[in-house]
Amino acid sequence: MSIEKIDIEEMGNFFNLRADGYEDHMKNTVKSFDKYYELISHPMKYTKERISILDLGCGTGLEIEYILKKAPNAEITCIDLSKGMLNILEKKYKDNKNQINIINESYLEYPFNKCKYDYIFSVMTMHHFLYDEKLNLYKKIKQSLKTNGMYIEGDYVVDEEHEEFCLERREALLKDIKYDKSKIYHIDIPFSFKTQKKLFKEAGFNDFNMVFSQGEHQIYTVK
Ligand SMILES: C[S@@+](CC[C@H](N)C(=O)[O-])C[C@H]1O[C@@H](n2cnc3c(N)ncnc32)[C@H](O)[C@@H]1O
Repeated sequence: MSIEKIDIEEMGNFFNLRADGYEDHMKNTVKSFDKYYELISHPMKYTKERISILDLGCGTGLEIEYILKKAPNAEITCIDLSKGMLNILEKKYKDNKNQINIINESYLEYPFNKCKYDYIFSVMTMHHFLYDEKLNLYKKIKQSLKTNGMYIEGDYVVDEEHEEFCLERREALLKDIKYDKSKIYHIDIPFSFKTQKKLFKEAGFNDFNMVFSQGEHQIYTVK
């Protein structure tokens, strides 16, 4: 296996350093960028109610614009490790500050309230975590959704061969640094659908639905 040498950076620092150019980078990287972010909120029912929404790894809030179109009065809790990304989100949504709670923490550690949310989102953020980390998180998500609540995930999904390659690559990259297990590093380890579906089932979700699939960019819902 030939591994391209890259500097391993801590997740928060990685996005702090790139926050200013982040949205342009995404516009150039995500195929059908506008359609993709618009479709993120497609599974939501339009409502003027003050429903509760949690956005994990919200970044600069690209998806929030579309979530607000479907639920203009929603109370949205936005969690992200990167202060730089959150500062941009805060400025962009200053007119909505009475409905947006910003939390600068890791969603892996942060406790979520049980049975609280109508929708939980994560967009382009879950492809950094190992099986067990994701399983714990998906169980936490399941518990914090209301009975009819829905989890909507947009992320990279790859074939099984590529999944294996990324996991091996991660091991090889971490061997080269003084790996501190208490830290979160930015290394891409996207999973295959087979693994994602196994994870959702194990976390207690039954109903899987594909919303959008183009190359490695996918959007799916689970209940
Ligand atoms: C590629 S950006 C996606 C941002 C936004 N959701 C979007 O689609 O534009 C990934 C974001 O996830 C955040 N992130 C990664 N791991 C995290 C964690 N454990 N807890 C909170 N945020 C995390 C990063 O700081 C970054 O802002």
